[in-house]
Amino acid sequence: MRGFVVKEYAHPSKIELTTDAPEPTPADGQVLVDVYAALNFFDILQAQGKYQNQPPFPFILGAELAGRISANSPIPPGCPFKRGDRVFGAGQGSYADKIATDWRQLLPIPQALTFAQASGLFVTWPTSYEALTGRANLKAGEWCLVHAGAGGVGLCAIQIAKALGAKVIATASTDAKLAVCTTQGKADHVINYSQPGWQKEVLKLTGGKGVDVIYDPVGLIKDSLKCIAWKGRALVVGFAGGQIEKLPLNLVLLKNIAIVGVHWGRYRVADPKREKEVWSELFALLESGRIRPVVYDEKFTLEQVGEGLGALEKRKTWGKAVLTIREEDAQARL
Ligand SMILES: NC(=O)c1ccc[n+]([C@@H]2O[C@H](COP(=O)([O-])OP(=O)(O)OC[C@H]3O[C@@H](n4cnc5c(N)ncnc54)[C@H](OP(=O)(O)O)[C@@H]3O)[C@@H](O)[C@H]2O)c1
Repeated sequence: MRGFVVKEYAHPSKIELTTDAPEPTPADGQVLVDVYAALNFFDILQAQGKYQNQPPFPFILGAELAGRISANSPIPPGCPFKRGDRVFGAGQGSYADKIATDWRQLLPIPQALTFAQASGLFVTWPTSYEALTGRANLKAGEWCLVHAGAGGVGLCAIQIAKALGAKVIATASTDAKLAVCTTQGKADHVINYSQPGWQKEVLKLTGGKGVDVIYDPVGLIKDSLKCIAWKGRALVVGFAGGQIEKLPLNLVLLKNIAIVGVHWGRYRVADPKREKEVWSELFALLESGRIRPVVYDEKFTLEQVGEGLGALEKRKTWGKAVLTIREEDAQARL
């Protein structure tokens, strides 16, 4: 089978696709999945040996996927899926025709979604949902500022905040990305945060009050506290800007606010009950059509892993960039 095999650490642009990789052998509790779509930023780090989780060589890159349970897959005891079912989730080695992964890391693809849309569901959507609901307790009528609103987690956050009835101000670095926040996310207002003084715009839009919730995947909490409301909540989601921020705690006291972290990957171990609730609430929202996963419009094939990851790295993409491993079949959405 084809597989993006890493034999030594290198930038993905320097790695060639292997066309005769062995098909994976499922271990206990694993199923085999025909992969349709996948792509993620942290894979760039893993290819270079810079990620927290490094498999032994040789390994196939790729950690998130959407696909179908293979016709030759074992079905382990307790596994709710049958061969041919459409699933999405996580596993090591998704940049390949097939992956072996634990069935407990997979969920059924909601009927209305394509493989491309489902391939980016597993991490971004529950992160943004739990951040805004479980952690920041965003309420209808409140103001929510979403940074990097055209990015993977940002575009989910805009849609979820809108579905919760909040008023959303989204930021991004270019006019094209600001347009994505409005057309794809339905943000109420957009501001280019690469312009100095953007906080004044936020204050103007909120009538001088500031925003109740700040959703920050970039590392902009300190700058954003200039426009946070009394009893506001600032969500620490990530550091896409590359710097881990340091914050003077006197600001937290003086502004009477909360700084709240979210680490979705830990819920499986630390709070499995809440993990289930989040998925059930998200599935209901997806089925209702009130939220909709957005796929970047330039498609990359398995032969183009380097280009796809390069586009992510160069900050060119919006929504979820996707690798199309095999074309959607006629019954893809049945
Ligand atoms: N806490 C959690 O559980 C959790 C879960 C998932 C992801 N995350 C984190 O959230 C962050 C965003 O993830 P994502 O999936 O949304 O990524 P993404 O799709 O690549 O989007 C990141 C956005 O950040 C903005 N950005 C600002 N400075 C940047 C820089 N120097 N380099 C690259 N992008 C920059 C870009 O938007 P503009 O061009 O508009 O500025 C970009 O669109 C990552 O740090 C990720 O690790 C955390």
